[in-house]
Amino acid sequence: MATFTVRAATGRDCADILRLIKELARYEEMENRVKLTEKDLLEDGFGERSFYHCLLAEVPAEYATCEGHTIVGYAMYFYAYDAWIGKILYLEDFYVMEKFRGLGIGSEILKKISQTAVQDHCCSMHFVVADWNHRSINFYKKLGASDLSKKEGWSLFEIQKKHLVKMANEE
Ligand code: ACO
Repeated sequence: MATFTVRAATGRDCADILRLIKELARYEEMENRVKLTEKDLLEDGFGERSFYHCLLAEVPAEYATCEGHTIVGYAMYFYAYDAWIGKILYLEDFYVMEKFRGLGIGSEILKKISQTAVQDHCCSMHFVVADWNHRSINFYKKLGASDLSKKEGWSLFEIQKKHLVKMANEE
């Protein structure tokens, strides 16, 4: 393939972003967990306040998929803050469509994200990966990643909205 470009997403890209979010969730065998809509993505990413940022990989029209898609990969990220080290870039999602993998698209996306993280004086990039996803774990490790759950024993927790509402309304 001749070339691809990596660019920041705009509000007009929300349909493609949602399509790729669902593809990644399918790859992780959790597609039914995706509740977001295009409207949510538009409001949350491109409204008054940006809760996430997104980079997209795009190929020329002649390399479009059979369905006509030219946006073939994405990374969604946002900023977090660690009380010990400061600013962190949190990589929420990272995905390249199967047909386009192994061409350097993922590496280029991560290069651009690293440049952003460095420009914004982030101390680290955090992300979670399913423990069965050995190919991605190896890919990240080659780039210098270390597994904090193993090294430091952290566990990922969540408190769902119904519990938040309960706590919020407690007298
Ligand atoms: N299939 C093929 N290659 C993969 C895969 C995969 N499922 N997972 C990781 N890779 C690695 C390859 O080993 C290869 O490394 P190598 O060249 O040293 O052998 C490397 O990806 C290829 O490098 P690129 O061409 O720059 O990356 P690519 O464009 O293929 O994108 C990505 C990498 C995004 C991991 C892609 O392979 C993918 O979408 N995989 C499936 C989804 C996934 O696992 N996403 C990450 C989940 S974790 C998160 O979202 C924070």
